[in-house]
Amino acid sequence: MNILKFTSDEDFAQTGANLIVSLLQSNPKAVLGLATGSSPVGVYAKLVEMHAKGIVSFAKASSYNLDEYVGLPVDHPQSYRSFMNEHLFNHIDIDLAKTHVPNGNAADLEAECLAYDKLLEEGGPVDLQILGIGSNGHIGFNEPDASLTSGTHVVDLLPETLEANARFFDSREDVPRQAVTMGIGGILKARQIVLLVRGEEKAEAVKNALEGPITTQCPASLLQSHPNVVVLLDEGAAKWLK
Ligand code: F6R
Repeated sequence: MNILKFTSDEDFAQTGANLIVSLLQSNPKAVLGLATGSSPVGVYAKLVEMHAKGIVSFAKASSYNLDEYVGLPVDHPQSYRSFMNEHLFNHIDIDLAKTHVPNGNAADLEAECLAYDKLLEEGGPVDLQILGIGSNGHIGFNEPDASLTSGTHVVDLLPETLEANARFFDSREDVPRQAVTMGIGGILKARQIVLLVRGEEKAEAVKNALEGPITTQCPASLLQSHPNVVVLLDEGAAKWLK
């Protein structure tokens, strides 16, 4: 694992963006695995900036998002499809038809999960997977549990995740209780994983993930088993590391 610590938000975001830009410059058809949430926002803003300057094109690239809320209309401002359009896709030259976000409104969610894994199988493997981490150690929406699921599946979000995500909604009651998420097996198939973490409230999860035992009670700890992980941390997130 390559762990990089940053004192400046600017350098954090630029370094994350540079990893994606270098990949696309050497492989314009790269397959990107993308995350939502506050962690990647700065990186996406840098990508938009670099695209506007003509440094990078996404025209031949494709993308697969980690997750989507169940039952939230796709055009709701807090749907993960809306998030991706607003923060990245609407401002770059990616072909929207080649951007994939699980459909949390599918009539048959089980079939949607299988279909998403098939899409990933056909279009993958993901060359670079962006991840954030929950304060409980979740990646994607793979919540801590006695066992973890390999493929894409429907998950009941834990109270702490509902609490954390309430900041994006008018009230906690408005946060969808379930999500469709890529499974741990799907995430670990990526050729490279870039974990982005900012803030002291993530320090314990970061310590457990990077220095603790590999356990399903901290899903991010399974990243220790992956051969190519880069971790970008700000000072707060790195606070408890040895
Ligand atoms: C989002 C996702 C989640 C977030 C995590 C951290 O697509 O899969 O695992 O990465 O909850 O969220 P933020 O970055 O908002 O702290």
